Amino acid sequence: MTALTLVTTVTELRRAIERLRNQDGRKDGVALVPTMGALHDGHLSLVAAARERTPHVVVSIFVNPTQFAPHEDFHSYPRDLEADREKLAAAKATLIFAPGPKEMYPEGFATTVSVKGPAAGLESDFRPHFFDGVATIVAKLLTSAMPDWAIFGEKDYQQLLVVKRLVRDLHLPIEIIAVPIAREADGLAMSSRNAYLSPAERKVAGKLNLVLKDVITRLRHGTAVAQAQSDGIAALKEAGFDSVDYVALRDAENLAPVNNTDRPTRLLAAARIGKTRLIDNMAV
Ligand code: PAJ
Repeated sequence: MTALTLVTTVTELRRAIERLRNQDGRKDGVALVPTMGALHDGHLSLVAAARERTPHVVVSIFVNPTQFAPHEDFHSYPRDLEADREKLAAAKATLIFAPGPKEMYPEGFATTVSVKGPAAGLESDFRPHFFDGVATIVAKLLTSAMPDWAIFGEKDYQQLLVVKRLVRDLHLPIEIIAVPIAREADGLAMSSRNAYLSPAERKVAGKLNLVLKDVITRLRHGTAVAQAQSDGIAALKEAGFDSVDYVALRDAENLAPVNNTDRPTRLLAAARIGKTRLIDNMAV
């Protein structure tokens, strides 16, 4: 068994990946799992999906400042590298890439990767800076590691489509693997941000997935899309959410608004309780 190595610079990352590839005569390939740490079982299901493909699993841990607006939770975002390291050792990851902000954004950094298409609307309406930050860091992580696969969760469904588009548009020879949402016993989608919830808020949070299921049932029974969406918003407020950013039925492939479920669609939602903003989504 090889030990779990941790590197902090792109140069070391590239060397370590080169060594992994050479170990088996380039037979197995390398998978990358990008994360912001504070790892939970959702992240570990991505590592497991990577392990199904290759023994060479690289996990990046970097709380990316450019995807947070100044008023958002960059400084309070949970960080626990020691606990993450133990979880990744148990999950049999091979290599951790945990750079500091100066490594990824050195003095004079002046490049932004900006994806349009699937980045328009939904999250962008409420976090306008978000996808430029995500696309820029994901482009950097992918081109630094140059893995054969990169693993992303459906939890961040719009992000997944943005990353797929980025990889296609830039001709990166990397296969994007999508992993279903890992949920708690009451159906709450696992998230590092769930740690912010008070016990009372945690109870309310557990209703988000139930409301989405209910909206899907209404759609199946013929409720009009606009009506089902506004019923969902009302139900979330009723359940105790302080505000609802959106409950939206979209085309599952390009996130275009739809008014029926003839093609594959996805129901996406974002809502706030206290200081915490939660997102969730489901196939319809
Ligand atoms: P983070 O929120 O740490 O999530 C890292 C990856 O884990 C993402 O692909 C996300 O969709 C996936 N994930 C999180 N919770 C999940 C769950 N409950 N079930 C399945 N997958 C889950 O997403 C980011 O970090 C960042 O934006 C990043 C892509 C790393 C760029 O900074």
